[in-house]
Amino acid sequence: MTNTESKILDGKTLAKKIQARLKEQIAVLEPKIGRPPGLAVLMVGDNPASAVYVRNKEKSCARVGIASFGRHFPENTTQEILEQEILKLNQDDRVDGILVQLPLPKHLDSVGLLLKIDPDKDADGLHPTNLGRLVRSETGLRSCTPAGVMRLLEEYNIAIAGKKAVVVGRSILVGKPLALMLLEQNATVTIAHSRTQDLGAVCREADILVAAVGKPEFITAEMVKPNAVVIDVGINRIEAEGKSRLVGDVDFESVSQVASYITPVPGGIGPMTVAMLLHNTVLSYS
Ligand SMILES: NC(=O)c1ccc[n+]([C@@H]2O[C@H](COP(=O)([O-])OP(=O)(O)OC[C@H]3O[C@@H](n4cnc5c(N)ncnc54)[C@H](OP(=O)(O)O)[C@@H]3O)[C@@H](O)[C@H]2O)c1
Repeated sequence: MTNTESKILDGKTLAKKIQARLKEQIAVLEPKIGRPPGLAVLMVGDNPASAVYVRNKEKSCARVGIASFGRHFPENTTQEILEQEILKLNQDDRVDGILVQLPLPKHLDSVGLLLKIDPDKDADGLHPTNLGRLVRSETGLRSCTPAGVMRLLEEYNIAIAGKKAVVVGRSILVGKPLALMLLEQNATVTIAHSRTQDLGAVCREADILVAAVGKPEFITAEMVKPNAVVIDVGINRIEAEGKSRLVGDVDFESVSQVASYITPVPGGIGPMTVAMLLHNTVLSYS
């Protein structure tokens, strides 16, 4: 271990900068196109965390000049009604981006809904067509959280080519697409998961270590190579001393003593994800 304090990869500030640039871009494009860009966020049921996320997305849209066409459906809404709504939004010329806020109530099939979204309006970049484009290194809408990680690394001029990157987590939402994006930038990539043996040793190989696990403070200093770049994708709400707070998948206190760069939670990848959602919407609009 070294005693140097890590530098913070400040996603909050970069997200604000990206949003300011998108606002300028929209101001130029809107008179030519004759309407603002539009994003439709579909939410089903009353999951309180989802409600906060949807509100944040709509507020960010308003800040940059994106019109919101979101709809909030009751918990017992059928798959068919949601599919009809998506097909309507696909045809709606005012709407450039569509996303379904997850998680959905248990009776609904999220993949079935995702498949109904026009791939060119797939603001979350999770449609198989867009994931296929990523596999083939073709241009297309990229999933927001991994794209946010890559944009943050770029902002801080972190070298990726030839480096060893370890991504802990293999979800379709974060781990897998992020591993492909790192590979596209010529990193040597390892994907670790719950069946990985000696995870500590695997992580200690990493020049760039990404945690997307969903377990509070799971990555500790002993698992981190000195001067590695550590990206914490995790967002976990924990209760401590009668208070609730957000922590990542990385034990920030200990790891920040070892890493060269680290993302905070909150203020790291969370705001970058929203910024990339707005970016995707403007990309589909322009
Ligand atoms: N910042 C943002 O905007 C943002 C966006 C999305 C998600 N998140 C957060 O990121 C975290 C991950 O999200 P997700 O959707 O990718 O979660 P997920 O679908 O639950 O995937 C978690 C992954 O972690 C792996 N894992 C679980 N326990 C492990 C262990 N003991 N050792 C090694 N790997 C283990 C799982 O392995 P298996 O595949 O083997 O089960 C799985 O691949 C969550 O905290 C989530 O809230 C944040």
